[in-house]
Amino acid sequence: MKPFVYVTRQVPDAIFERLAIKYDVEMWKEADKAVPREILLEKVSKADALLTVITDVVDEELFSRAGSLKVVANMAVGIDNIDLDAASRHGVSICNTPDVLTDTTADLTFTLLLATARRVIEAAEFVKDGKWTSWAPMMLVGTDVHHKKIGIVGMGKIGTAVAKRAAGFDMDILYHNRNRHEVAEEMLGAQYRSLDALLEEADFVICLAPLTDDTRGLFQREHFQKMKNEAIFINASRGPIINEQALIEALEAKEIAAAGLDVFDKEPLHAAHPFLTMKNVVALPHIGSASKETRMTMMMTCCENIEAVIDNRHPRTLVNKEVLHFD
Ligand code: GLV
Ligand code: GLV
Repeated sequence: MKPFVYVTRQVPDAIFERLAIKYDVEMWKEADKAVPREILLEKVSKADALLTVITDVVDEELFSRAGSLKVVANMAVGIDNIDLDAASRHGVSICNTPDVLTDTTADLTFTLLLATARRVIEAAEFVKDGKWTSWAPMMLVGTDVHHKKIGIVGMGKIGTAVAKRAAGFDMDILYHNRNRHEVAEEMLGAQYRSLDALLEEADFVICLAPLTDDTRGLFQREHFQKMKNEAIFINASRGPIINEQALIEALEAKEIAAAGLDVFDKEPLHAAHPFLTMKNVVALPHIGSASKETRMTMMMTCCENIEAVIDNRHPRTLVNKEVLHFD
């Protein structure tokens, strides 16, 4: 019998067919809806591998329903949807897709920064709404990006790639991270700051930290209050790092000027969410890594990881290394 692979979201034919060469493959086919929990739990009982996305909760309950599950290949760099300890207890390899999305996500993060600073979305809507009747000196003026201070919270691969882009805009680069990043300091002139000092000095505060027990709720009202009133806050990592209600209140109280957000506490945003009516909020639907090239590469990486584990080889991007049982 061929190993059984369950794919939790609709993927392009090329990905499905690649897996189908070696495996029995089934896929959840409703493109705009996550697989219902009951179905995922039923499929996992027969699966040797799962190809998952960030909306799938991969936890103890799921592992306890597994029969011969060996690998979960998560199509994301973030693995906060997965209980790693539970995976290791059950001997299941967890793989993610780091590196391949670094530049694409950095591009989107910088797009969000530019779009928020220069009010690009508002301006484009203004034109499409037929409101552009004349040129005016102060019409839709935003704020400059070049020569300002960017403060990057979470100087991992994506943070460093954003810093590179910031250097091209002649920005001063500040960062806060668990560990010093000597390469970024030497190559880009990035300067380490405590979180408080960064918040006080930066014109743009960029959140790129992973969601972990340490970073959940990292940004509270007091953190927004420490920022300049002209500061712009950008989040392109995970929503729950921010106390979203505190951000809403800080924007309403004009403690900060604007926010550009690709991620939220609860995704998708519900129709009555305050962000939807705030002109100084640019909200995007979690599209950090969403280029055709990168999404295809992420899915190919998932296929390679599944093939490696099933063939008893070391997968390239194993997260829970303690599970190692490869020859
Ligand atoms: C997407 O959010 C990812 O973690 O890759
Ligand atoms: C504006 O379009 C300018 O020429 O300054």
